[in-house]
Amino acid sequence: MSQPDTLKPTSDATSLGLAPPPKLAFAMVGLPARGKTFIARKIARYLSWLGHSTRVFNVGSYRRAQLGRQHHSFFDPRNEAYVVARRDVALAALDDMLAYLGGNGDIAIYDATNSTRERRALVRTRCFAQGVEVVFVESICNDQTIVETNIRATKARSPDYEGVPEEDAVRDFRLRIAHYESEYEEVGEDEGPFIKVIDVGRKMTLHRIQGYLPARVVHFLLNLHIQPRSVWLTRHGESTFNVLGRIGGDAPLSDAGRACTHDLARIARGRFGSRVQVWTSTLRRTIETAEILGLPFRSWRALDEIDAGACDGMTYAEIAEEMPHEFEARKADKFRYRYPRGESYQDVIQRLEPVIFELEREREPVIVIGHQAVLRALYAYMMDRPPRECPTISIPLHTIVELEPTAYGCDERRIDLAPAPLDPKRFRQNVG
Ligand code: SIN
Repeated sequence: MSQPDTLKPTSDATSLGLAPPPKLAFAMVGLPARGKTFIARKIARYLSWLGHSTRVFNVGSYRRAQLGRQHHSFFDPRNEAYVVARRDVALAALDDMLAYLGGNGDIAIYDATNSTRERRALVRTRCFAQGVEVVFVESICNDQTIVETNIRATKARSPDYEGVPEEDAVRDFRLRIAHYESEYEEVGEDEGPFIKVIDVGRKMTLHRIQGYLPARVVHFLLNLHIQPRSVWLTRHGESTFNVLGRIGGDAPLSDAGRACTHDLARIARGRFGSRVQVWTSTLRRTIETAEILGLPFRSWRALDEIDAGACDGMTYAEIAEEMPHEFEARKADKFRYRYPRGESYQDVIQRLEPVIFELEREREPVIVIGHQAVLRALYAYMMDRPPRECPTISIPLHTIVELEPTAYGCDERRIDLAPAPLDPKRFRQNVG
């Protein structure tokens, strides 16, 4: 039997003798309450999920840690002492970011207003000196309704205003914005590569965006929106292979699987009516589940279960007995382990990228009827969990994992499905 090729990294340029990709910094630009932190965190989550070491350096957090909460006058550019204090915290965050990129970090997001040409020139000079490429990501929002909603939903509730009555916080924050407006300069074409996101993606302007990753980030940002909606992740009903403990295959649902799916149908219809997108894989067990739901659905090959290759259809006991090398290799590194002629979790994440883009773009609720490994990977993205944790994330059968994206994260609720009483005629058909 051939040795497993399981622990070979799937896309490590250095192992192929290629120069490693350059370190990259996305530097946010924009007035306060323009969604910079929302965008910064989304980019970081997406790139971390794809396997790049990525971190956000938020200058506001540095300022709070070093200087505490501040009245709006602290942000007045006419006050020289405060200008120096603000520059110092911005540089402390920049130094930490460059130290990170000089070490194990691949990509950093510098989350600050960077609202003047002078400040951006400083950021670029320091990054270039260390061989770090910079792309400015400017968020411009002229829609006052969006700005006002953002002030009330996130800023007035931030640690800067803990214990402050909402109206006082909103008033102070508007004055803070006015200070920044008094000296704000949009990014110009002479300042290097940039992405401008206007009115939360209604329009986007690009300048000198080159290279694979910046282009992926542009594509990703094109799909972002801030409309609240639910995403449900749920495995297909129990299949006859589940009953036997066999992996892979294309088995139909078991009777218990059908019974619990009726409960899923009841809950989903009660919640969404017919205003919901239903996605399945191309495998029979997810399609049968969607058919019981009784709503139109879309089948994605990208949602098919991890390909168990030569182990397809086996139980784990059979793999341990007949392919002990494989069994041990999988146990040693479940994330990078690739089944012979099949896939690893890392491979699954790469093929799920279009699903993530579509999930971000979709404005209606979405029910993803999937498989364990695939839903673990989607869950890791939604909940910003390190991809390496994928193999241990709990996604049991007959459970709805309800996720509600929030400003900077995602809320989670789990609903257990119970077997609903079956139509007796249908039950008789199933027996035997
Ligand atoms: C802040 O201190 O909250 C933001 C600092 C900045 O980036 O201008």
